[in-house]
Amino acid sequence: MKFSGYSISVSFSPLSSNFITRNSCSRRLPVSFSRRSRRNLCSSRVFSVKQQSYHKHGVLGKQYLPPWFSVAPMMDWTDNHYRTLARLISKHAWLYTEMLAAETIVHQKDNLDRFLAYSPEQHPIVLQIGGSNIESLAKATELANAYCYDEINLNCGCPSPRVAGHGSFGVSLMLDPKFVAEAMSAIAANTNVPVSVKCRIGVDDRDSYDELCEFVSTVSSLSPTKHFIIHSRKALLNGISPAENRSIPPLKYEYFYGLLRDFPDLTFTINGGITSVDEVNAARDAGAHGVMIGRAAFYNPWHILGHVDTAIYGAPSCGLTRRQVLEKYIVYGDSELGKYGHRPTVRDIVKPLLNLFHSAPGNGQWKRNADAAFRNCTTIKSFFEETIDAIPDSVLDSPVSEPPLGRTDLFANIDSLLPPRYETREEVVICA
Ligand SMILES: Cc1cc2nc3c(=O)[nH]c(=O)nc-3n(C[C@H](O)[C@H](O)[C@H](O)COP(=O)(O)O)c2cc1C
Repeated sequence: MKFSGYSISVSFSPLSSNFITRNSCSRRLPVSFSRRSRRNLCSSRVFSVKQQSYHKHGVLGKQYLPPWFSVAPMMDWTDNHYRTLARLISKHAWLYTEMLAAETIVHQKDNLDRFLAYSPEQHPIVLQIGGSNIESLAKATELANAYCYDEINLNCGCPSPRVAGHGSFGVSLMLDPKFVAEAMSAIAANTNVPVSVKCRIGVDDRDSYDELCEFVSTVSSLSPTKHFIIHSRKALLNGISPAENRSIPPLKYEYFYGLLRDFPDLTFTINGGITSVDEVNAARDAGAHGVMIGRAAFYNPWHILGHVDTAIYGAPSCGLTRRQVLEKYIVYGDSELGKYGHRPTVRDIVKPLLNLFHSAPGNGQWKRNADAAFRNCTTIKSFFEETIDAIPDSVLDSPVSEPPLGRTDLFANIDSLLPPRYETREEVVICA
């Protein structure tokens, strides 16, 4: 066994046995920064709006650092296991759950731990819900309160036929902004944490900048929603797959930056196609309040998340090596195995780790070892004992190295690409 006797200090007590009540939610104190960049000043201002909303609801105690960086909600990927790994690598990244259908929460109300429980270390964490029935969205939010999520987000961006077609929610909701405003008001009325919307920049031929602005304007003026996460490509509901819907429609970051200019009182997080910490900082230098990364944070967790605390938050890194991360994760994994009947399996728990050695020496051999070990290992500890010899000590014992280079000029010309200013109907009438 290659693991040293590193002492394990993180406790992963499940909520079912260590239930968090609303009053016992843990919130960390803000860290003060000496680095005074344009983006930090800008984001501090926006974050104070958020703080006010916590004050308004009387729940502000300690506070997390702002959502300058977040890991996107990803079905089957950002489950409890992935989030546990992510939090071991970055203390400050905001983590989103996978989308949970409101109907599921309501129908499983006697079995909620399975869907909603997470360990306290995962704060700050946002619950994403999906649905198109106001009563269910309201009830689901109410049921989720006991789990102390830090924000509730409504999915208005999923193009999957099951969700947007048959379910008439996800990105289909963008076609009816008044309904979204009503839904967000119902969600907000049933929680005391901030609420937000994650959406695309358009749907099919409803893809003009003005239509996007109409959506944001309606939802923000008719509901308490002040934070929008913008996946900066439209969705096509013409039968292409969800994966194709994340690559075929072109990214239009200029729409995102247009929103920042035209809605100065709102908070916007940019999402879509951002794959490095350099690009996160470039997006923030161009004015984005927050940046959300999806696939890159799953495919390369060590090199993306490993730099978030230092390069984005200016805070100390977690200081762990990959060996130490694995040691902690093994304790977690073995305590979770089979918690709900035959799930989670060894494979479920190991899944997020399969990318931990992305592009490192020994990664290919380790994955081949893993294929064999899945067939006979019954614990996470034995799985690693059987496979980890493929990874050199130099990889296991090194702290995170220099971040991979990104496109620092990704947003360099954004000002010249901005769409014409959005004018509300009232302004048009006054000017006519
Ligand atoms: C496997 C997978 C599942 C996803 N599931 C969700 C989801 O549940 N809710 C959601 O709003 N977006 C979902 N998305 C979209 C991501 O949140 C994100 O918007 C998209 O991947 C673009 O960001 P990226 O280019 O950084 O990956 C999913 C993406 C992937 C790859």
